[in-house]
Amino acid sequence: MESRIVTPANIEEDKDNEYSLRPKRINEYIGQKKVKEKLKIFIEAAKKRKEALDHVLLYGPPGLGKTTLANIIAVEMGGTLKVTSGPAIERAGDLAAILTSLNDNDVLFIDEIHRLNRNVEEILYPAMEDYSLDIIIGKGASAKSIRLDLAKFTLIGATTRVGLLTSPLRDRFGVLCPMEYYEDDELKEIIVRSGKILNVEIHSEAAIEIGKRSRGTPRIANRLLKRVRDYSEVKGNGTVDLSIAREALELLDVDKEGFDSIDNKILTAIIDNFNGGPVGIETLSYFVGEELDTIQDVYEPYLLQKGFIIRTPRGRVVSDIAYKHLNRIRKSSNINNKSGNQFSVFDNKENID
Ligand SMILES: Nc1ncnc2c1ncn2[C@@H]1O[C@H](COP(=O)(O)OP(=O)(O)OP(=O)(O)O)[C@@H](O)[C@H]1O
Ligand SMILES: [Mg+2]
Repeated sequence: MESRIVTPANIEEDKDNEYSLRPKRINEYIGQKKVKEKLKIFIEAAKKRKEALDHVLLYGPPGLGKTTLANIIAVEMGGTLKVTSGPAIERAGDLAAILTSLNDNDVLFIDEIHRLNRNVEEILYPAMEDYSLDIIIGKGASAKSIRLDLAKFTLIGATTRVGLLTSPLRDRFGVLCPMEYYEDDELKEIIVRSGKILNVEIHSEAAIEIGKRSRGTPRIANRLLKRVRDYSEVKGNGTVDLSIAREALELLDVDKEGFDSIDNKILTAIIDNFNGGPVGIETLSYFVGEELDTIQDVYEPYLLQKGFIIRTPRGRVVSDIAYKHLNRIRKSSNINNKSGNQFSVFDNKENID
């Protein structure tokens, strides 16, 4: 995918610290209070009953800690974690082989579970429900179906696209864990923790600053921390203080909101060329010079989530905070924020500088 410094996707440079920075126990895992609370209770209850933990579905945007949590659950349950992913399991037989290799309390982690093949997925239904596997032996009229018992395992599914899961699969998960973007103070805590592990001396205000620009995402926070550390080693004395952090982040083209130049280009295009909108996404992509899909999948979600852009039936509109962020003044109010889809007629020409 794209190589933006603020991409939430797992990129090459994250790989070396992904393992060392990952919290190993649930009490080290920062934030996600609701999910953590829920899991702690279910884990304790399952252990008391000496049963496997019910199947867990972790869903939410990339880089928020789904894989980390799957590892933690396996540790807390005292089982072994087996890791695979939806696209990696091509045939029903592949999944059957994995399932029969599991022992009681083991955790099977299927990443990108929304990408499972339909016929592979069907094997999962009885496995999740009754810990059994139906296999067919022989062909044609002499074919027989036999049922094998499986160990009492826990399936953890992770997905960034929960809407793409079929309902029979979704319904078989007992513990649903929606992952949320992290608050600034939680990101600060993550950065301070990572700083200790990486042996970086970091001032509290600098950790807050990096956290604020990390788009609610621990993976981005850790990446920015490493880049800021590199900068401080070259330009300073290795200690990350507020001014070094700000200089480095500016150089990295990550602004106060965690936006990069393309995010800002999108907002500027809507303000300068369309008086704040509404503008259709195709037209916008033409003005910004980026592919339509890239705008929709990569840039827009965070701008929408932060409320800088509002999606309306007539196109995209920027909100007042976008004007403030870019130090612009709205020329005429063309958005009714309550309904989000009523606009007064306005004159575009007056905005052509
Ligand atoms: N709650 C947390 N506390 C501390 N660090 C965290 C936390 N959550 C995630 N991280 C850090 O962020 C990195 C990314 O997390 P992880 O790989 O678990 O995300 P993910 O949700 O599985 O992403 P993807 O959807 O891309 O698979 C981890 O290496 C870890 O260091
Ligand atoms: Mg993951």
